[in-house]
Amino acid sequence: MSETLYPVPADIAAAAYIDDAKYQEMYKASITNPDGFWGEHGKRIDWIKPFTKVKNTSYDPHNVSIKWFEDGTLNVSANCIDRHLETRGDKPAIIWEGDDPSEHKVITYRELYAEVNKFANVLHAMGVKKGDRVTLYLPMIPEAAYAMLACARLGAIHSIVFGGFSPDSLAQRISGCDSKVIVTADEGLRGGRKVPLKANVDKALETLDVDKVVVVRRTGGDVSMTEGRDVWYHEEAERVSDHCEPVEVNAEDPLFILYTSGSTGQPKGVLHTSGGYLVYASMTHQYIFDCKDDDIYWCTADVGWVTGHSYIVYGPLANGATTLMFEGIPSYPSPSRFWDVVDKHKVSIFYTAPTAIRALMGAGVEHVEKTDRSSLRILGSVGEPINPEAWQWFYDHVGNKRCPIVDTWWQTETGGILITPLPGATALKPGSATRPFFGVQPALVDAEGQILEGATEGNLVILDSWPGQMRTVYGDHERFVQTYFSTYKGMYFSGDGCRRDEDGYYWITGRVDDVINVSGHRMGTAEVESALVAHPKVSEAAVVGYPHDLKGQGIYVYVTLMDGEEPSEDLAKELRGWVRQEIGPIASPDLIQFAPGLPKTRSGKIMRRILRKIAEDSFDNLGDTSTLADPAVVEDLIENRQNRA
Ligand code: PRX
Repeated sequence: MSETLYPVPADIAAAAYIDDAKYQEMYKASITNPDGFWGEHGKRIDWIKPFTKVKNTSYDPHNVSIKWFEDGTLNVSANCIDRHLETRGDKPAIIWEGDDPSEHKVITYRELYAEVNKFANVLHAMGVKKGDRVTLYLPMIPEAAYAMLACARLGAIHSIVFGGFSPDSLAQRISGCDSKVIVTADEGLRGGRKVPLKANVDKALETLDVDKVVVVRRTGGDVSMTEGRDVWYHEEAERVSDHCEPVEVNAEDPLFILYTSGSTGQPKGVLHTSGGYLVYASMTHQYIFDCKDDDIYWCTADVGWVTGHSYIVYGPLANGATTLMFEGIPSYPSPSRFWDVVDKHKVSIFYTAPTAIRALMGAGVEHVEKTDRSSLRILGSVGEPINPEAWQWFYDHVGNKRCPIVDTWWQTETGGILITPLPGATALKPGSATRPFFGVQPALVDAEGQILEGATEGNLVILDSWPGQMRTVYGDHERFVQTYFSTYKGMYFSGDGCRRDEDGYYWITGRVDDVINVSGHRMGTAEVESALVAHPKVSEAAVVGYPHDLKGQGIYVYVTLMDGEEPSEDLAKELRGWVRQEIGPIASPDLIQFAPGLPKTRSGKIMRRILRKIAEDSFDNLGDTSTLADPAVVEDLIENRQNRA
């Protein structure tokens, strides 16, 4: 790994909110006196009833409980909209750039107010009230932000399901939180292709009972509407006023649920609450992107993922920033699209994912160089470790060696960024997420949970709570405790491995559990396995990740067929289609190996370590195979491996 140091540019440091001295001082204060620190910074948002208590958290596995600002009350949408009206009414809140480059829309804070109030009134008319769950299955259109903020206005809890999930996955997530109202669109539009969102909802609802489906018209495509259940948003919106009083909620009332994959079982509903989350999302957004009032900020994520929640919608809007929302994909209509959009809207802060950078790198630097990009000031990366080559390309060609890159490490569970450079404070090393944000105490532990000091490598844990932390797994607090606080008692376990260098910089090395990261999308290998074994011809399946040039990790599948079934190209194709249908296109296997047997211990446990090595094409050193029930299966697996250099 490269350890070249990129010092903070003097002009950036001079103009930034936080320089290195300030970082040191604030970081120290945040750790030595969290109540004092967060008590002060908690005031950055508007409270209806101010809090008097700040931190009340316990990581004791017998009593995990996380509360911040617990006696304060607020409304999140009022914080993201109403409070800006007086000074920023005519400022663009959202710049929406359509899939087709000829389409864009600018929504001012005043317009956002009217749209969100109307949306809230429509949802209210559908029976939605405080505490109700509303599932959103929407493309990247302004209505996605309106719907989120409308739920927040009513004190309802949104659960967004990414548009790339299949009807089955959607159904699971609707019933998991018992949503009675679904918001979707006729179709989505990505790279010129239509995504049949409403048709997917119809399929998901074949076996589920909900009260209402609110359909936003995006493409005008033909969809079927079920009488009494389905309504068009634009028709309902005509019937309601554009004023809806924001509902007062407690700091610890839920804001949203977001399903995410873990190493075991079905996806879990990560629950975030209102006060601490908003304080943390807005503060990290301001300082990590050094976002000023005249910045045009663009995060290329989808609102279906946590990055879209915290850094397209809640963080930027709570700060009164201008946030750009992009419906399309980086390669449409050409690999210059990102940079064309940067030039078109004079984007100054650009936050994206390594997988997008690698894909654009592959398309050739000429697509970047023909654009201007002089508006850019800060670049950001999120979702997976960024390989130093991609970092360098981003830095040299996109930012013309002028723009610091903030490599931000965090998770759905953390609500906001935990480890990251600050543009005016932190010298950069390509591939390192560098140092902890205020209030964050990372540590590295060995397999027994002993804290390791100095330059070392281990499992990444966080020793104490921060305001943006998830509060529970929706409906299953025990699973929350088991997943995050039981591996290493009294610590939050991230599931990531990490190295710390001599300068105290953190280098995330990737997941150490059975979660893989495919193009920045998090996937439980167990989920893909259970989809595969549901296929009538499959007897057994094991799924592992392997290094993939563009995706970071690819999905490598080992399948054992039922007796009498023969491996074939057609069957491999069928299984790919099956997984896409069961989970969604993002889970599509890259490589499928038919195996007569899987390596197992004598007690029948699949030895994934061996499968991982074979998938990585590095089987010279398989380690101890003496405990295998049948060592011969390994030879067959090696012989027929699919990933050959
Ligand atoms: O493995 C880490 C990786 O993404 C995981 C979290 O995935 P998810 O909950 O989907 O959230 C993604 C967006 C916040 C982490 O456990 N990850 C995320 N950001 C980075 C990263 N790995 C290395 N460097 C990062 N900057």
